[in-house]
Amino acid sequence: MEYIVDDKALDAREFLALAGAVWPGDYNEEKTARALQRTINITAREQGRLVGSLRILTDGCYFGTITELLVLPAYQRQGIGSRLLSLAREHTPTLLYFGAQPGAEGFYEKNGCARGMQAFQIGAAER
Ligand SMILES: CC(C)(COP(=O)(O)OP(=O)(O)OC[C@H]1O[C@@H](n2cnc3c(N)ncnc32)[C@H](O)[C@@H]1OP(=O)(O)O)[C@@H](O)C(=O)NCCC(=O)NCCS
Repeated sequence: MEYIVDDKALDAREFLALAGAVWPGDYNEEKTARALQRTINITAREQGRLVGSLRILTDGCYFGTITELLVLPAYQRQGIGSRLLSLAREHTPTLLYFGAQPGAEGFYEKNGCARGMQAFQIGAAER
């Protein structure tokens, strides 16, 4: 397995193939390409094939978040998610504050992440 921090080769199509395998949905390729340009993308690749990804969105000084962490179902429980998280810890310029999907709390606790504030959300403004 090859792990790449700030993987400039990550493109929207392969990212959406990964996302769709984990969370099936109707994703927009053009929007995804723009989103990928704004994040630090850490990837796990097996012989070039994308099998895991973690993206960091950060202001570079004070605050950052993990937008999502994804591992292909067939590759889960093999330590890939933990490795991506530890690379995020080593390379983030800021604190990372993020939410866990229901059911994934145990993964973050096992990886030494402390529980933080209760999260709230605001939807995007209409444009
Ligand atoms: C959650 C996820 C990223 C974990 O990645 P992974 O590569 O499977 O995790 P690891 O193999 O590094 O797991 C390390 C340990 O965390 C725990 N763990 C892993 N996935 C877990 C889960 N979904 N729930 C609770 N604990 C979990 C296990 O104890 C595991 O150790 P074990 O296999 O020896 O029992 C991956 O399962 C995934 O992509 N899930 C779907 C998407 C998702 O929920 N992403 C997180 C968004 S917040």
